[in-house]
Amino acid sequence: MSDSRLKIRRVTTHCGAEILNVDLAQPQSAQTYQTIRQALVEHGVIFFRGQTLSAEQYIAFARQFGRPTVPDSGIIPPLPGYTEIAQVTKEPGRQRNIGGTWHTDQVYRVAPSWGTMLLARQVPEHGGDTLFSSMTAAYDALSDGLKRTLEPLRAVHSNAAVQARMQTGRAPAPEISHPVVLRHPESGRRILYVNPAYTVRFEGWTEEESRPLLEYLFRHGQRPEFFCRFNWEAGSLGFWDNYQTWHFAVNDYDAGERIMHRIVVESLPFDRGEAPVSAAQQAATADA
Ligand code: SIN
Repeated sequence: MSDSRLKIRRVTTHCGAEILNVDLAQPQSAQTYQTIRQALVEHGVIFFRGQTLSAEQYIAFARQFGRPTVPDSGIIPPLPGYTEIAQVTKEPGRQRNIGGTWHTDQVYRVAPSWGTMLLARQVPEHGGDTLFSSMTAAYDALSDGLKRTLEPLRAVHSNAAVQARMQTGRAPAPEISHPVVLRHPESGRRILYVNPAYTVRFEGWTEEESRPLLEYLFRHGQRPEFFCRFNWEAGSLGFWDNYQTWHFAVNDYDAGERIMHRIVVESLPFDRGEAPVSAAQQAATADA
């Protein structure tokens, strides 16, 4: 059953919805949280405006959807006093922002986190938008022939290029492979699960062999009809599903102007430490 008080307004055909008529600082009914979750699964990313949450209220909201975690990438520091909240800023003196390439969060981990939330605490007068692209729409738009080619493949992911770009001085995480085509555990829709920031090659293929097809898929995923673009105001809260979307933080503002509080939630089925399974494997298990 869904909560009919909430108004859900699509941002674009394939990606994003704004949810109105809810004050996230207040505890909500199970039905309301379920409606929010369904909207996230359906639209890939959801947005709320005008929220005035304390850090504690923000953590309490996040806990309704999974276990908050602060991945230690060396790129995003925790908010002092709160291990669950990370602070996304462009530090004075820095040219590069965090998240300024198309990516999905933590795909280089064995069990990538499901959901990321961003709460805008301070925004620039203009700029600082985030773009999202739907990888379910991107998958659906591929030809049947290419879908069949991709179905059995696995792709290798590495955070080496991002660590170097952000000059963390850290050694990259060990490379990891995941299926190229996932089936969303809740919607059942197929997802193209490669991304420009982290995917380096197909498993069993050289980088040189992989590059033409990966570059094609990266260009394909950047077709504007799969996008939505969100303009943050102080008090905006965005919540995206990392399995089915890419995102890109636009770097068109000055250092120190934008402060975002981020919570990453791990959720089914990967909070059990399971790596993503391919769409084909998942379908076979469901049919068994
Ligand atoms: C991120 O990539 O997690 C940050 C996105 C943003 O700051 O808009």
